[in-house]
Amino acid sequence: MRLLVTGGAGFIGSNFVRHILEKRKDIQIIVLDALTYAGNIDNYSKSIWEDANFCFFHGDIRDETLVKNLVRNVDKVIHFAAETHVDRSIDNSDPFISTDIKGTQVLLETIRKHPVERFIHISTSEVYGSAEKVPMDEEHPLKPLSPYAAAKTGADRLVYSYFFTYDLPVVIIRPFNNYGSNQFPEKLIPLFITNAIENKPLPVYGTGKNTRDWVYVKDCVKALEKLIDIDIKKIKGEVINVGSGEDTDVLTITDTILKELGKDKSLIKFVKDRLGHVKRHISSTEKAKKIIGWEAETNFHEGLISTVKWYLENEEWWRKIKEGRREYKEFYERYYNF
Ligand SMILES: NC(=O)c1ccc[n+]([C@@H]2O[C@H](COP(=O)([O-])OP(=O)(O)OC[C@H]3O[C@@H](n4cnc5c(N)ncnc54)[C@H](O)[C@@H]3O)[C@@H](O)[C@H]2O)c1
Repeated sequence: MRLLVTGGAGFIGSNFVRHILEKRKDIQIIVLDALTYAGNIDNYSKSIWEDANFCFFHGDIRDETLVKNLVRNVDKVIHFAAETHVDRSIDNSDPFISTDIKGTQVLLETIRKHPVERFIHISTSEVYGSAEKVPMDEEHPLKPLSPYAAAKTGADRLVYSYFFTYDLPVVIIRPFNNYGSNQFPEKLIPLFITNAIENKPLPVYGTGKNTRDWVYVKDCVKALEKLIDIDIKKIKGEVINVGSGEDTDVLTITDTILKELGKDKSLIKFVKDRLGHVKRHISSTEKAKKIIGWEAETNFHEGLISTVKWYLENEEWWRKIKEGRREYKEFYERYYNF
């Protein structure tokens, strides 16, 4: 089977590709990634670059010709590529509208003309906004709060419209907050771990009582593997949450990281709450259990400790980003300003 993976050089995409290449000899992976500031070729080891089942195209999902040439040669598509950072979308929404919505439309139009067996769209729990009832099931109202969330909601509903209008074989997956290895260190957990290692402040928004449903990325990619194999009739046109069913607040995460690294709580710096951030998220896990037979295996505390360990053991990986990438430094200095 030949599988096109868009955004495969990012956090979840690269975890997914590594998982599949390790476990499955029957799947050939073709990654399409624009290598934006968040894409990282260091997410793949030398042995992956040499793997006959791995092929990498440096390009943009908005490039119709390139997308057509790739889609015509694959059986299935899993679409991760997106601009993904809520705070950056508040700063400038342009790339979010362009990549997350237009990029998704280019893929859908291509698939309409050159059919594939399935199109797995990676949406996000951010489409729901803050929880109006918990746990949040797939029928929860869509009330995106940030430009990122709104762009992803546009893409999510556009994908659905291609199922409804053209009967395309799509499935829409809404992961809750993922964490784990290889996450770009601007996102909360890797930012806090790496700042704590460097004895830099940990910027906690508001009171730190906002909660999220945290899913260990190694669990998430197992759900996605199931979605590749399952009979398409069972998932076509469906929306499925991928969450743990539990929530944890930011201060608890901060305390755990500081304790694990033996650092002092004085590193916590409370900053004014940012607009566009959701207050609470807890996923309903029923539909994923019922349709794909998946539920999260990793308890959040254990997953967080493993993640701290990964960042301790892979300092070269994140220092190259924090010290070497202009886009990282410029945004950090402008946004946090301390
Ligand atoms: N990380 C999370 O907690 C989370 C939760 C729910 C949903 N998601 C969704 O999962 C997907 C992956 O998220 P992530 O955290 O791995 O993101 P990421 O920012 O780490 O990676 C995104 C990848 O997409 C690539 N990309 C961006 N624009 C592109 C374009 N125009 N053409 C081709 N490639 C492009 C980047 O180079 C990067 O490799 C996204 O769609 C995101 O919305 C993420």
